[in-house]
Amino acid sequence: MTEIQTPRLILRRWHEDDLVPMAEINADPEVMRWIGDGSVRDLERTAEDIERWEEEWDEEGFGLFAVELMASGELAGFAGLSVPRFLPEVLPAVEIGWRLGRQYWGQGYASEAAHAALEFAVQDRGLDRVISISAVGNDASENVMRKLGMAPERETTHPAYGHPLRVHSIDLTEFHA
Ligand SMILES: CC(C)(COP(=O)(O)OP(=O)(O)OC[C@H]1O[C@@H](n2cnc3c(N)ncnc32)[C@H](O)[C@@H]1OP(=O)(O)O)[C@@H](O)C(=O)NCCC(=O)NCCS
Repeated sequence: MTEIQTPRLILRRWHEDDLVPMAEINADPEVMRWIGDGSVRDLERTAEDIERWEEEWDEEGFGLFAVELMASGELAGFAGLSVPRFLPEVLPAVEIGWRLGRQYWGQGYASEAAHAALEFAVQDRGLDRVISISAVGNDASENVMRKLGMAPERETTHPAYGHPLRVHSIDLTEFHA
């Protein structure tokens, strides 16, 4: 089973017990503000999401990790890799992304988890390039990208919702853990 430990976090595949805490994260309008059309997601939709994330792990050999706080065992959210099928113009590509519950923001957890996911992309999966896509205005997410060494590459428009998006990328052939 794929599992990564960082100083404060465990990154792992999804368990049944993750459904309720992930649904609570997805039910927070502040968390969902910059994601998709900005609407919150209920328990049923969260269950579908987790099922899809697990399928991606099985099919691609990478995916979104459940991010657990080592000290307490709480689920803080997710970070990891996915194929950004919602934005065909960037394909083929692998995207790095993250979403944490509000009580876990501002403590460096996203950067810590994302750095480990980038190491996984290079060392385990042998990827040479990863992108990250965010709605223009999502400064918290862009700051995580910048801290990882990602550079802005292009701006485009969300195909389904019409708002501006910014694509960052990183050349992993020059990534040093
Ligand atoms: C984006 C998100 C994962 C960042 O998580 P986090 O754990 O707070 O991020 P970090 O603590 O690692 O912060 C990374 C940098 O961004 C800065 N930052 C954090 N929140 C910020 C905010 N709201 N505005 C501007 N900068 C912010 C931090 O100060 C840090 O920089 P520093 O180390 O120079 O101080 C979190 O805000 C989140 O889950 N947001 C909702 C979901 C979402 O938008 N996901 C991304 C979709 S593209």
